[in-house]
Amino acid sequence: MSRADFSLRTAILQALETRRGETISGAQLAKETGVTRAAIWKAISQLRAEGAAIDAATNRGYSLRAESGLLNAQGITALLDEAARALFSVKTEPCVTSTNTLLKAAAQAGALQGTVLCAGEQTQGRGRMGRDFYSPPDSGVYLSVILRPAMRAQDALFITTAAAVAVCRAIERLGGSPGDARIKWVNDVFVGRKKVCGILTEAALDFESGGLEYAVLGIGTNLLAPAASFPDDLRKIAGGIFTGDIANLRNRFAAAVLNELAVLISRADYNAPAYLAEYRARSFLLGTQVDVLSAAGERAALAVDIDAGARLVVRYPDGTEEALSSGEVRVRPAAEAKIE
Ligand code: BTN
Repeated sequence: MSRADFSLRTAILQALETRRGETISGAQLAKETGVTRAAIWKAISQLRAEGAAIDAATNRGYSLRAESGLLNAQGITALLDEAARALFSVKTEPCVTSTNTLLKAAAQAGALQGTVLCAGEQTQGRGRMGRDFYSPPDSGVYLSVILRPAMRAQDALFITTAAAVAVCRAIERLGGSPGDARIKWVNDVFVGRKKVCGILTEAALDFESGGLEYAVLGIGTNLLAPAASFPDDLRKIAGGIFTGDIANLRNRFAAAVLNELAVLISRADYNAPAYLAEYRARSFLLGTQVDVLSAAGERAALAVDIDAGARLVVRYPDGTEEALSSGEVRVRPAAEAKIE
């Protein structure tokens, strides 16, 4: 698509998304965009081919149906609150390798705080610990944000934990599992017994200041169970949040996460995070027997707290305690009943 065609497509989407359900005449769109009605028709055909549900009525005009689910930046931006709109600049792609990989390169090249890339599919989605993150089309939303917070490297845990709270709030805002969006320290969001979202924060250090040069916060959410189900190795672990046809779900969810993130980030209270009380309350590990996984092997422990630094405090059978700031814990099978 040429640059001019892309700009026209963007302008038309913007007009339709901000007036979803309303009919806008071809003449009006032509006037707003400065092109002919024939050019409008061509762009509308292109948008329909991409999956936008646009009705066209002779002599009346075009309208984007309420249920249209095309993931697009204008659709997300139209749903942002003022604070989020001031902070985030959103771009979408139907399919990318990995939104984190692409935004890391962009951050390295100087892209601004608040740059957001949101994709409908990833072919090389990445999770923590070098794992892949399954990112099929149509059922999930995979987004990354560039942040440039004034914080010490060791405080980067606050980014991941704030994001987990933002995702839980977004799930509940959209009516998914009220009161049941819970967190497994540090980066997993669960609904019921299934992981529905994973978060990966990747940071680059500024060696002179000892602070962060930038962080790329990546959030991958399974909104629905994929049409072809999850692959065998994930079926028992992963789940979708919502069921059935929900209008405009991906744009609404991405916007809800960004709206909640803007609230948490703009308070700039990474050093005294009020949201940690909510993180604790949503954390299903506390009081649970876990295995602490590290390069040295596995060690049984009791998860006792999330401390003021967002670290997971565990108590070993010999009574010693450790505050974990990285790594992973696994719920011991006998303790799994507590997740329910
Ligand atoms: C995990 O569960 O270990 C973390 C998964 C993080 C996945 C998200 S999807 C958007 C962003 N792009 C990636 O490649 N990974 C993150």
